[in-house]
Formats: sequence, structure tokens, C-alpha cells
Amino acid sequence: MVDLIPVLTEDQIRDKVALLAKNISSDYQSDNLVLICVLKGAVVFLSDLMRHLTIPVEIDFIELSSYGNNDVSSGTPLIRKDVHMDLRDKHVLVVEDIVDTGLTLAALVDYLKSKGPKSVRVCAMIDKLERRKTDIRADYVCHTVNGGFLVGYGLDYAEKYRNLPDICHLKK
Ligand code: IMP
Ligand code: MG
Repeated sequence: MVDLIPVLTEDQIRDKVALLAKNISSDYQSDNLVLICVLKGAVVFLSDLMRHLTIPVEIDFIELSSYGNNDVSSGTPLIRKDVHMDLRDKHVLVVEDIVDTGLTLAALVDYLKSKGPKSVRVCAMIDKLERRKTDIRADYVCHTVNGGFLVGYGLDYAEKYRNLPDICHLKK
């Protein structure tokens, strides 16, 4: 049996995403903004966030291999599915579900910078602080937690629970 303890309800998520989108819309204004969604966990966040933005945006997707049980980053993420868009002269905003150790994100940001964009920033639904191993910080964060394993709103445990409308703490 597992326990699912709500951390953020659907209504709370909606309010936080709307506020974040307002800040992003005002920061970028007329820039050429590309949202790059990190598959699969960030799809739900992306689809809500983009509909709250009041500026023109383009979207693309990237999928990275996880580091599995090994927390050591090779420095280069293994790309399962790369972005298709030419990022030169674009402002890139990475849309990520959760930042944990930060190793994935640090490697991803370096990789995207090598494609020649004007800027690369990061927007994360959840910033989870306890296990951070790099000094990377997301530029936009909806919600910060200290630790725990979270599921729902795109976040999975063994590919399950992504469809939950709330974000929950999974306790085994
Ligand atoms: P990092 O390189 O340790 O920051 O890895 C971040 C990735 O691990 C996220 O994009 C998620 O895919 C996954 N992850 C980390 N913490 C959680 C969690 O609490 N629930 C679900 N997935 C998580
Ligand atoms: Mg992820």
C-alpha cells in the first residue's frame, strides 16, 4: 500500500502557474521565446503554462536519459530525443518538472547553450532542495520543497501517477 498525501492541489497549482506565467510574460515581452519541455514529466506543466502566457512563444521537446541509480553526471546528458528547432538567436526557457540534484539540468543547460541561443533560462514546477549537488538555480519556480518523493501533475513513480491532477507526496 502506498499513501498519496497532497502537497499542492489542482487549484493551488493553477494559481501558482498563472502567477509564474505573468512574470515570464512581463520579463520576455517581445523577445523570440522558445519553451523547451523536458519529456516526459514536464508535459502537463508546459501545457498549462503556455496557455497562461500572453506573449508569442514557440515550443519544442527534448528527452534525456536518466542517470539511473548513478548520481554522477558525465557532464553531457544522453539525448533520447533532441530539439528540432534552430535555437540560434532565440531566447530559450527550459520547462522542467522538478529539480532534484540539479545534475540533469546543469548538463542540459550547457548542452542547449552550445546551440547558440541568445539566452537560456530555466522554469521548474518544483524546486527540491535537499539533494542538490550543483549550484544551478531555476530562474522561475512554482513551488519549493525540502525533500520527499513527489508524484502527479506529470511526475511519475515507475511511470505511474503522471495523470493525477494534484501533486502528492508518495509514501511507501
Ligand atoms: P536531477 O538531475 O537529480 O535534478 O533529476 C531530476 C529528475 O529526476 C527530474 O526531472 C525527475 O524526472 C526526476 N525526479 C527527481 N525527484 C523526483 C520526484 O520527487 N518525483 C518524481 N521524479 C523526480
Ligand atoms: Mg524531468
